[in-house]
Amino acid sequence: MLEKKFNFAARFLSALAWAAPAFFAFPGASFADEPNYDEAKVPKYELPDVLSLPGGGAPAGTALEWLCGVRPGLREIFEGEIYGRVPPRPDKLDFKLLESGYAFGGKAIRKQIRITASDAAGEISFDMLLYIPKDGGDAKKAGSPRVAEGDFFNGKNFPVILGLNFEGNHATCSDANVIVKEFLRSNGKMSADGASKRGKKSRRWPYELAISRGYAVATICYLEIYPDFKGDLAKRASALKIFGEEIAASDCGSIPVWTWGISRAIDCLESLREIDAKKIVLLGHSRLGKTSLFAGAMDERAAIVVTNNSGCMGSALSRRKFGETLDIMCGPVGHWIKKSAHAYRGREEFMPVDQHQLMALVAPRPLYVASASEDLWADPKGELMALVEASKVYALFGARALPSMENFEIEKPFMGDVGYHLRRGKHDILEYDWSNFMDFADAHFNAAGGGKKN
Ligand code: GCU
Repeated sequence: MLEKKFNFAARFLSALAWAAPAFFAFPGASFADEPNYDEAKVPKYELPDVLSLPGGGAPAGTALEWLCGVRPGLREIFEGEIYGRVPPRPDKLDFKLLESGYAFGGKAIRKQIRITASDAAGEISFDMLLYIPKDGGDAKKAGSPRVAEGDFFNGKNFPVILGLNFEGNHATCSDANVIVKEFLRSNGKMSADGASKRGKKSRRWPYELAISRGYAVATICYLEIYPDFKGDLAKRASALKIFGEEIAASDCGSIPVWTWGISRAIDCLESLREIDAKKIVLLGHSRLGKTSLFAGAMDERAAIVVTNNSGCMGSALSRRKFGETLDIMCGPVGHWIKKSAHAYRGREEFMPVDQHQLMALVAPRPLYVASASEDLWADPKGELMALVEASKVYALFGARALPSMENFEIEKPFMGDVGYHLRRGKHDILEYDWSNFMDFADAHFNAAGGGKKN
C-alpha cells in the first residue's frame, strides 16, 4: 500500500513537472494500477469521428474532402501532439555495400548495406540486411563469398517486406555471414553478447518462405537508430544528434526516430534495381508494430502497411482501457511517444484522437492488422474495432471489402481492402502471420498489375 502511494506520488510529481497546465484543466484524471481484462469494465466512451477533424467541422463526404480537409490536420495532431515530429531528411545519404553473397542454398542473394546519414552536427550509420530472391537460384554457387554487381541481376525486380528487428540482424537467422553487431542496452552500456544471439529470433523471420514466394526481405536493428531507453543519453546516441542541439533536445518520442530510420531504409531500397520500390510492404511487431503503423501513416512510399500485435499506441483503441493502457505504458516506456502526450494518462477520453484515426492516415493504401488470441495485453478486440472504424475512410475511397466485428474469429483471416487476422496463441510474429501478410500483398499487388510469384 505504502509502495502504491509512493508510486502514485512519484507519478503525480513527474506529471506535474511537464504537464501541469493540462492536468489541472482536467482534474478528473485517474491512474490505473492494474490492467483491466474484463469487457464489462470497459468504460463508456465516444470515439472521435474518423471522418471529421478533431474539434469540429462537417464530416468528409468524399475521398477528396477527407484528403484535403481532414488528413493534414490529423497527421499534424499525431506528429505534433502525440508521438513527436519525424526528424528531417538528412543533408546527405550514403549507401555502402559491406558484403554480399548467396544464401539459403543459392535461392537468395544476401546484401548487407551500411546506410550513413549526415547533417550539420554529425553522422550516424546503421546496417540493413537484405535477402533478394535469386529467381531460379544457382545452387552451385551457394556459399560463394561475394557476388559481383551484375552477376545476378536478370532484369527482374522484387517486392520487398521491410521491418525493423529487435536484437540485431544476426539474430534474425542463422546465416553465418550476417555481421554481428553490439548495441547500447537499456542500462546505457554496450551489449557484449552479440554472437550468442545469432539465429535466436529466426522464428520471427521466415526468410526462406518469403524468398520462395518472390519477396525480398530487408531489416535493420531498431537499436542502431534509437537506443530503447529514456533520457538524454538515448537521444544523444540516436539519429537526433546529427541535426544538432535543437532537434536533439526536442520533445520527440523514439517512435518518430525509428520512423525516420525506416524512411532512410526506403531511400536505400529505392536505389536498388533488384527491388520494386513501388511494392514495399512495411511490417512491424509489438513496439515495432506501433512504429510500422505510425511510419506507414507518415511515409506514403510504404505501399502496404502491416501492424502485428501492436496494442497500446499501436492498433488498439486507447479509450477502451483494456489490457495495457497509456498510463501503464508511460511508466517504463513513455519515451516511445512525446512527453506532452503523457498528460492523457488515465484520461484517454480527452485525447484529441484515437488509434483508428492513425490507421485512417494509411488509406487508401492497404493496411493489415494482426492480433493474437492470448495477447490480451495488446487488446485484440480493440485492435479490430479500430480497424473497423478506420474502414469508414477506406469506404470513402470506394472500398467495399471491409471488415466487421464478425471477423473477430480465430484463424479465419479477413482479406479485403484492409486485412485482419486473429492468430491462435501468444504475443509473437510467426510463419502463420507472414503467410497471411504475403497472401494479402499478393492479392493487392496482383490487382494493381505485375505482382509475381516465383
Ligand atoms: C511491452 C509493452 C508493449 C510493447 C511490447 C513490445 O509489453 O508494454 O506496449 O508492444 O513491450 O514491444 O515488446
